[in-house]
Amino acid sequence: MSVSQTRMTALITGASSGIGQAFAEEYAKRGLDLIVVARKADPLQLLADRLGAQHGVTVTVMPGDLTDPETPLRIFDQLSARHINVDILVNNAGFGVPGNLCDVAWPRHRDTIEVMASAPVRLCHLFAPAMQKRRSGRIINVASLSAFLPPHAGGTLYYPVKSYLAQFSLALRAEMKADGINVTALCPGFTHTGFQDAAGGTVESVAIPKWMWSDANDVAQAAIRAVERNKPICIPGVFNKAVAVFFKIMPGAVGRFIVGR
Ligand SMILES: NC(=O)c1ccc[n+]([C@@H]2O[C@H](COP(=O)([O-])OP(=O)(O)OC[C@H]3O[C@@H](n4cnc5c(N)ncnc54)[C@H](OP(=O)(O)O)[C@@H]3O)[C@@H](O)[C@H]2O)c1
Repeated sequence: MSVSQTRMTALITGASSGIGQAFAEEYAKRGLDLIVVARKADPLQLLADRLGAQHGVTVTVMPGDLTDPETPLRIFDQLSARHINVDILVNNAGFGVPGNLCDVAWPRHRDTIEVMASAPVRLCHLFAPAMQKRRSGRIINVASLSAFLPPHAGGTLYYPVKSYLAQFSLALRAEMKADGINVTALCPGFTHTGFQDAAGGTVESVAIPKWMWSDANDVAQAAIRAVERNKPICIPGVFNKAVAVFFKIMPGAVGRFIVGR
């Protein structure tokens, strides 16, 4: 399956901003129809109008809150009723959760698990069977470079959730390989998006030098290349790749000390 040869449809969660919007732009450039999901309908509609006019693709706007466990099934049912197949699923919606476990109100933790752990798995469970029947499909799960970092204070939930999503993605890839479905975990480092603002700004974001930041479109392009090549993990950028290797070979105690600092 080559994304440039056949008219296909990509479903992208968290497409109203940042990396998700970049995925929408990159897939629209390649001539794919899109289904875009996020809570805010207005930016999704603006995106749909712009990409439809620029690239002649059909963009279906599906506002939805993935903190609601019913949302994935609602999306699936609405698309099924309209006979829209999903060829590419990008589980991208997410947000940061700064602060220690007990300093953050429970609903925020519950939403973290729902949006970044449950919803991606549920969406795979709903859309992958049809991909299996067609013996063709692509799934990108947007985890994070933080999946490779040692556990540390202040990252009690976000980091483990992203590790879980990366591990889930690897296992799913192994299961789907024989069905012609490529599955890639995208693990970006710091990327210019609305992420930092949505998290209320973090100390790290101020202290991190500019050269460490990636552009959202570069990240989306790297992920699309990776999933086409059926790469299990995509870490965009040389520096980010080096960070992942560094923490892989570092003894755990040293890694935890460095991240803790
Ligand atoms: N930026 C980084 O430095 C970075 C690094 C590593 C990994 N990531 C990951 O990349 C992914 C995309 O984040 P981003 O950086 O592009 O941030 P962003 O610009 O804030 O975009 C996040 C997207 O997720 C959507 N979203 C948030 N909560 C949602 C909910 N309850 N239901 C449905 N959609 C929801 C947002 O739309 P609405 O607000 O309209 O719902 C938005 O479209 C996330 O999974 C994040 O963890 C980001």
